[in-house]
Amino acid sequence: MKPAAASLVDTGTVCRHLAIIMDGNGRWAKARRLPRIAGHREGVEAVRRVVEAAPGLGLEVLTLYAFSSENWKRPPDEVTDLMGLLKHYVRSEIEALHRNDVCLDFIGDWRALKPDLVQLLEDARARTAGNRRLKLVMALNYGGQSELVRAAQRLATDVAAGQLDPDAIGLDALESRLDTAGMPPPDAVLRTSGELRLSNFLLWQSAYAEFLVTDTLWPDFDGPALARSLDEFARRERRFGGR
Ligand code: IPE
Ligand code: IPE
Ligand code: MG
Repeated sequence: MKPAAASLVDTGTVCRHLAIIMDGNGRWAKARRLPRIAGHREGVEAVRRVVEAAPGLGLEVLTLYAFSSENWKRPPDEVTDLMGLLKHYVRSEIEALHRNDVCLDFIGDWRALKPDLVQLLEDARARTAGNRRLKLVMALNYGGQSELVRAAQRLATDVAAGQLDPDAIGLDALESRLDTAGMPPPDAVLRTSGELRLSNFLLWQSAYAEFLVTDTLWPDFDGPALARSLDEFARRERRFGGR
């Protein structure tokens, strides 16, 4: 008899970690002649739906690109709106996340955000640190290049302090100094709203991630759409450079 599901695991087609570039809020609003903030608000609803559906679809880690280090280039009003929505999401959702055994964490230079927001994020992290059902990672003030620069600074600091031999610097030494230290790399990176670029997201970590794209705008994304993307992932053949 043919071994059934085990072969799925062997070929690496189980998606443990999905990273999402949540794009298209502005286009969603524009199509309805609404202000961009309306699209961002609906985007928060999509976050709720996807976080709820994720554990049932087998995801262990879900990373969401919420604010890039380049998004500061947007008009100040929009930046203020986005920060306000982030605060609102964490405040209103933290109890439900905790109840649902979700561990909330952050990557990016999020400690450089406004002090009251940083405090809220620190508290949310501490509150949910022991939860195991899903790890929800929000990329805030995140840029893959700046993450690599910060990791390089940490390496240099350790070398200068005599705690690290430059000859001993290998993949592990760098990886353990990234914001994502200790997390599995993303199996797939999904981008909504059809753009075909990484926009400085998880540059190191997505070395062998499968790229998934959907034309669906982020505010229209939901559990069934997530299931369809994961089905597509399951049909991919991953090789990691082998044959
Ligand atoms: C994604 O939607 C949200 C963030 C980048 C914070 P956009 O605001 O980029 O939406 P589009 O790309 O203009 O449609
Ligand atoms: C990427 O989307 C950043 C986030 C989703 C937070 P952008 O909309 O900022 O990316 P570009 O500017 O189209 O590359
Ligand atoms: Mg965009």
